[in-house]
Amino acid sequence: MEKLLINGGTPLKGEVTISGAKNAVIGIIPATLLVEGKCIIENVPAIDDVTVIMDILTQLGASVKLINKSTVEIDCTNVNSCRATYDMVKKMRASYYLMGALLGRFNKAIVSMPGGCNFGSRPVDQHLKGFRQMGVEVKECVNDYYDLSADQLVGAQIYFDIVSVGATINVMLAAVLADGITIIENPAKEPHIVDVANFLNSMGANIKGAGTDIIKIKGVEKLHGGTYSVIPDYVEAGTYMLMAAATNGEVMVNNIIPKHMESVTSKIREVGGTVVEYDDAIFVKGAKKLTPARVKTLPYPGFPTDLQPLATTLLSISSGTSFVTEAVWDSRFQYVAELNRFGSKITVNGDTATIEGVEKLHAAKAKCTDLRGGAAMVMAALMADGTSEIYNLSHVDRGYERFEEKLKNLGAKIKRVQDFSNEIEEAN
Ligand code: UD1
Repeated sequence: MEKLLINGGTPLKGEVTISGAKNAVIGIIPATLLVEGKCIIENVPAIDDVTVIMDILTQLGASVKLINKSTVEIDCTNVNSCRATYDMVKKMRASYYLMGALLGRFNKAIVSMPGGCNFGSRPVDQHLKGFRQMGVEVKECVNDYYDLSADQLVGAQIYFDIVSVGATINVMLAAVLADGITIIENPAKEPHIVDVANFLNSMGANIKGAGTDIIKIKGVEKLHGGTYSVIPDYVEAGTYMLMAAATNGEVMVNNIIPKHMESVTSKIREVGGTVVEYDDAIFVKGAKKLTPARVKTLPYPGFPTDLQPLATTLLSISSGTSFVTEAVWDSRFQYVAELNRFGSKITVNGDTATIEGVEKLHAAKAKCTDLRGGAAMVMAALMADGTSEIYNLSHVDRGYERFEEKLKNLGAKIKRVQDFSNEIEEAN
């Protein structure tokens, strides 16, 4: 097992460059199943979730080659299996995209239900509702897998009862090669929805309206190969922005789309930080004292649920009482018990965390409970005086490319070590 040693209390300073978006690329890679020919995907982050989805495609029979550290060539011509077993999908929630992609390719998909971050119940009823409306017969089988099949997928008018990123992308995947026109009403509008649509369009699909209230997909005969570059990761960018504000640092966050950051930018300004926007960069400067605030997570363009743990951590040192309401997931405060080890005073009641701001966090030993909760532990350790130890790093490795290296470049005293003993070592 590995752990991070973080000697905190130093403001982050310098520049950080944001990698390709995890949540876009893990939709785009399964989408290559629909393409006849080679897809060259650029700006692919080197994170464990990408390794997992590339392994799944390889096991299905695709040729997947790493051309350089951020470019992948995928050719799915020889894929002849429509079955993704539990062993293949267990490490990644978003392997549900195999349902839409395999259905689009073969009119058939047998996909086991995946793993990933556990935020309580994570239903796929909206995905299945969309598929059913497109003529798919859905069999829910014992051992938790879905057997989906259709004679021919047909376009349909689909209204989602809940705004769902996964269901929106999944139905887009199923619809691009379907017969006729599919209309998705009440879709999710996250930047990665638009990116997956842009990828599919650049390979010959006909998708209009991604990022708006209605998406219209006209089925086409086939998709062709090509080259596509993944958008920057707004969750990674928000992570560094909030870390800069929380450590009273001064950080230039490069290679981002400032428009994607609006909810984060305005929240940092609201608590007293300074944010300056450039064409493809944002500069964040913290403040000696942060003012308390209310945060409510919402689907995009609202405040991202994936940054909720980091917002809560930031507010833990504000001068007063803050409230953070989680309105996307039923249960996304598991990390709070770990965070309170650093001396924060946070209580959770239902969907809302009440945060009594403290002067300073102190060093602690804590574990990552999930991907973004893990990032919150790293952030708390950076804010705290003394050396902290962070465990269960597999969670952060799923979604942050070169996390320690990027933080080190910002002056963080952080190192990853094998966990042989319980002794706290100095991180230099
Ligand atoms: C994606 C993101 C995740 C982010 C979430 C919300 C990926 C790989 N993951 O997850 O990081 O936190 O969007 O921005 O992109 N729901 C249903 N029925 C469904 C589908 C969803 O009730 O069929 C509910 C969920 O339980 C949840 C809410 O809708 O409460 C949002 O879920 P959804 O947008 O689907 O999240 P994911 O796509 O799984």
